Amino acid sequence: MLKSAIVLHALVVLSECYVTVPLVRGKTARETLMENGKWEETRLKFPYRPMAKFLRTGDETLTNDADLSYYGVISIGNPPQSFNVLFDTGSADLWVPSVYCNSTACQDHVKFNHSKSSTFKGTNHTVSIQYGTGSLFGVLGIDTVALAGMSVANQGFGVSLIEDSFFTYVAFDGILGLAFPMLAVFGAVPVFENIIKQSLVNLNLFSFYLSRNSTGSVVTFGGIESNYFTGQITWIPVSKGTYWQIKMDSVTINGNIAGCRGSCQAIVDTGTSLIIGPPSDINNINRNIGATMDNIGEFIVDCNKTINMPNVMFTLNGNHFTIPPSAYILQISSVCYSGFQTSSANFNFWILGDVFIREYYTIFNRENNTVGLARVARASSSATTSTSASSIARASSLFTASLMLIFCH
Ligand SMILES: *[C@@H]1O[C@H](CO)[C@@H](O)[C@H](O)[C@H]1NC(C)=O
Ligand SMILES: *[C@@H]1O[C@H](CO)[C@@H](O)[C@H](O)[C@H]1NC(C)=O
Ligand SMILES: *[C@@H]1O[C@H](CO)[C@@H](O)[C@H](O)[C@H]1NC(C)=O
Ligand SMILES: *[C@@H]1O[C@H](CO)[C@@H](O)[C@H](O)[C@H]1NC(C)=O
Ligand SMILES: *[C@@H]1O[C@H](CO)[C@@H](O)[C@H](O)[C@H]1NC(C)=O
Ligand SMILES: *[C@@H]1O[C@H](CO)[C@@H](O)[C@H](O)[C@H]1NC(C)=O
Repeated sequence: MLKSAIVLHALVVLSECYVTVPLVRGKTARETLMENGKWEETRLKFPYRPMAKFLRTGDETLTNDADLSYYGVISIGNPPQSFNVLFDTGSADLWVPSVYCNSTACQDHVKFNHSKSSTFKGTNHTVSIQYGTGSLFGVLGIDTVALAGMSVANQGFGVSLIEDSFFTYVAFDGILGLAFPMLAVFGAVPVFENIIKQSLVNLNLFSFYLSRNSTGSVVTFGGIESNYFTGQITWIPVSKGTYWQIKMDSVTINGNIAGCRGSCQAIVDTGTSLIIGPPSDINNINRNIGATMDNIGEFIVDCNKTINMPNVMFTLNGNHFTIPPSAYILQISSVCYSGFQTSSANFNFWILGDVFIREYYTIFNRENNTVGLARVARASSSATTSTSASSIARASSLFTASLMLIFCH
């Protein structure tokens, strides 16, 4: 069979190769709700509380990230059933909806039918989890998970039976967590941990390129794709092996401290759309860029003034990472939002979400527990992005996860 032939090929060439999952930048919950004229009403009903997924105290009010937009395809079972999942470095569990889920949120999503998979093993273990986007309840199953052509055997994952209604508005079906095993709450070994254990990649790391465009984004397992960035990679040690958490020295605007005075901790999270920080720091930054709060608690700017706004500089491990207004201002139809949002008052750490990662190719390195950052190569220097790897990745976004993409040096 074609598939097993390709898998065999992968084993032969593994030492020099890596595999890539194309990510689509799809419609956000905010965009969907705005089109239906239900945005304000929904935001008031499900306020944004970006820290919820980092609190892990069960009874905390849900938080709802309406701007998440990147997802890619994986498949589960034999024969494979395909799902769009968010690749989330801020959590460590995998789940998809079950055919037995009756929640409204499950109705518009692809659902897993375990009866159709010959390799599925059930358990009586119930699971529940709380994300920035909402909570869910389900049961733990075990099956083969395929992504980027890798076949991960005996992967534990949640199949949701009840989902919070906020999930109705998100484009992805489930979430694949890429944080450290200590964070896994389902009692299953996380997907990337199994990938390491089953020796499916040569280098124990994965890398994200998040495009501003709807296509072209990728997560690469086992490799670093140099065509996506320019200049050197800065390696920053992970301070605590739970989240991808690193020490930040400061946040400055025009040479003045605007936040994180005297250093702080920051979590690099592909599953948070904005840059989140303590209220006093974020209020200070938003004042500096001329953003004002609207009636539903969001920071708005005049789109015409974006051009005159300052760069915001993040200093990490002594290196400077600049985020220009073209990156931190998000325009949705005619409204311009600040990409800086406040955490709850009790939390003084930062989250560097997609607003940051779009500017810096990010390598999550389990070889030595470091985060690598390098400035992304923009299309204006099209020679650097139009290599075969990125064009194959773009073309393949239409295919399912059973298609294997292997790149060799
Ligand atoms: C699940 O798959 C089985 C076997 O193909 C089928 O009989 C059943 O109707 C499916 N269940 C649902 C809810 O679709
Ligand atoms: C789940 O519990 C039921 C009833 O107690 C039992 O019959 C079944 O064997 C259990 N299944 C597994 C996979 O443990
Ligand atoms: C969903 O509805 C069906 C039919 O009413 C029921 O059999 C099933 O138990 C329900 N599922 C859950 C998770 O409540
Ligand atoms: C922004 O500029 C456009 C075109 O120059 C103009 O039509 C519009 O009124 C301006 N908006 C604001 C809020 O100043
Ligand atoms: C971590 O690994 C990368 C490459 O895998 C290497 O370049 C870097 O120097 C290492 N950093 C530390 C702190 O060991
Ligand atoms: C994004 O898409 C536009 C138009 O489709 C194209 O001109 C541009 O090169 C693309 N940029 C990247 C980074 O792929």
